[in-house]
Amino acid sequence: MRRTLRALLAAGAAAIAARADPRATYLDASAPIEARVGDLLPRLTQDEKLSLVGGDRDFYIRPIPRLSIPEVKMSDGPLGVRNYGPSTAYPATVGLAATWDAALARDYGASVGRDARARGVGIVLAPAVNIIRVPQNGRNFEYLSEDPYLSGVFASQIVSGIQSQGVAATVKHFDANNQETNRGTIDERIGERALREIYLPAFRAAVTGGHAWAVMDASNRINGTYCSANDWLNNKVLKGEWRFTGLVMSDWSTTHDALGAANGGLDLEMPKGGSMSPAALRALLESGKVSQATLDDKVRRILRLEIANGFLDRAQESSSTPKDDSKSAEMALRIEREAVVLLKNDRYALPLATKRMKRIVVLGPNADAYPSGGGSSRVEPFHYVSVLEGLQKAAGRRAKVDLLAGAATDDEAQSIRSADAAIVCVGFNEGLEGEGNDRTFELPAGQADLIRRVAALNPRTIVVVNSGGAVATADWIGRVPAVLQAWYPGQEGGKAVAEIITGAVNPSGKLPLSYGRRAEDSGSFGNYPGSNGRVDYAEGIFVGYRWFDSKGVKPLFPFGFGLSYTTFTYSKIVVDQTDDGRRTVTFSVTNNGNRGGDEISEIFVSAPVLSRVPRAVRELKGFCRIGLAADETRTVTVVLDPDTFSYFDESKGAWAVEPGSYTIAVGSSSRDIQLTAPVDVP
Ligand code: BGC
Repeated sequence: MRRTLRALLAAGAAAIAARADPRATYLDASAPIEARVGDLLPRLTQDEKLSLVGGDRDFYIRPIPRLSIPEVKMSDGPLGVRNYGPSTAYPATVGLAATWDAALARDYGASVGRDARARGVGIVLAPAVNIIRVPQNGRNFEYLSEDPYLSGVFASQIVSGIQSQGVAATVKHFDANNQETNRGTIDERIGERALREIYLPAFRAAVTGGHAWAVMDASNRINGTYCSANDWLNNKVLKGEWRFTGLVMSDWSTTHDALGAANGGLDLEMPKGGSMSPAALRALLESGKVSQATLDDKVRRILRLEIANGFLDRAQESSSTPKDDSKSAEMALRIEREAVVLLKNDRYALPLATKRMKRIVVLGPNADAYPSGGGSSRVEPFHYVSVLEGLQKAAGRRAKVDLLAGAATDDEAQSIRSADAAIVCVGFNEGLEGEGNDRTFELPAGQADLIRRVAALNPRTIVVVNSGGAVATADWIGRVPAVLQAWYPGQEGGKAVAEIITGAVNPSGKLPLSYGRRAEDSGSFGNYPGSNGRVDYAEGIFVGYRWFDSKGVKPLFPFGFGLSYTTFTYSKIVVDQTDDGRRTVTFSVTNNGNRGGDEISEIFVSAPVLSRVPRAVRELKGFCRIGLAADETRTVTVVLDPDTFSYFDESKGAWAVEPGSYTIAVGSSSRDIQLTAPVDVP
């Protein structure tokens, strides 16, 4: 009975679709996008228009079969395509940013785009690019960095990679979704300079550089108004100044009032038209509070996204891409190999000379696990490699790798003591760090104690941390010789971590965030998580290293820091100018060690000492990552963006450049400046 009904409905839909005029301009794939949109919009009835501006079945935009407009399928998200069964689980994007490898970010985006096509997904709800303001924020692992420049480069590269596959990217959460505590109600008070210089640039880069087709509004309020109804954000800045022509969707169930959202720039309410329901919108249109032009603009943006991404011209599902794609797995592995940051390596504890070892013990809650952050970005992989498994393969035949449940019993203690090395895998996992709640700065209960016990038994204790950023280390880090920050490593993570531990891969990641000693050291401390429904971003532009530097607080590991198994030296800085007035920074890097490795160099700019407004001690304005064989020297040139020297002048409500003598610095980290050069800006 049911089958007959379904068959009848399908036949009906096909008959209706057949009525769409095949010669219509909007169905002509060779016609310009705007001509197609302009031709299609007037063909829609008012009911059809209203049906488009609210989502359907949680992750869909409705079809209009009569006009051959297909249903559009969406999926999270930032770390892989999560909604339709198992999928390739990539490392957390904070780890991707730790690679400082912009080309890799684009390839990563393309890989996610292919995974999306394999599942018929037309809109991926990624990348998530919010600034890492608070170390405890539960979603930092889904984001990129505490720095707007680094975030912007990665945001735009990921977007262009995803979209290269005929899939629309959704840059989220616009704007300043920097904490999960009360995320759905909190009113963030942020000055315009901090918004312009810190919290908006990654979105601007994704929209103007990456040409993102969708933006997702954040669930919080900014300066009193929910983002989903924030005229300043959506209409003035995004659609006005940045000339964004794609669609603005709400975060799930965070649209609170139809009038505010309709006139405040929201085009698509997700997961369904609740506040902006057809009935509510019809009433507002009839009363004249919302104009027909406003509704038409929303519909035009939705149609434009669909047409521009080819949804009317071909099937979105590509059967030639396997769902469990070995190319995607390879990408996940490549990223983690570059993402792991070697934070500490005293007495050459790493790499382990496994050829001369008999037995390695592996302990900790994440040793035999697939560690991941929780929430809407969590991807269930088809398969994964744990650190235990990775080490068992990497150690070869000679060294035995044993998993121990703990370090409490006499047998266990004996086993740890007699091992050549002990690897302790700690950190968070689903349920401990993720969407919806912030996490603790301290490691979960018992983990610091486990590290101390193991370290007391075995001098070669290596700690592997899974987290979205800094954790408390004060009561254990002095007792262990080596620490690896492995982020959430994705499905191939155990293999990459094992290759680094055993030396098959030379670690090269550098921190995209400051690793403070204490949560209290963060610039957000005292203004997080807020009270009475409100949080003041009182630190202004002084977020992350900008705070540590201006306050003279020493981070445990500074922004941009990461060790290698080799060493690099820098020489010969020259600052020049291109024909179009952009500054170039040229310098040489030498690998002094006896093995090959990649070095990430960071270009910082310091404003004149006597500045009209408070300025950061230094700000990242460029970077590059190069591979160098042992003894090799290479000369590299980094071109700085035209806006390198500007700041947002609140008194004028505009960007401004202060003339004067600036300093350009090339660092191996933000606290390890290798070369400097003065530059006069007229
Ligand atoms: C998250 C978004 C996500 C959406 C759909 C929301 O709770 O904040 O990032 O895309 O759910 O899963």
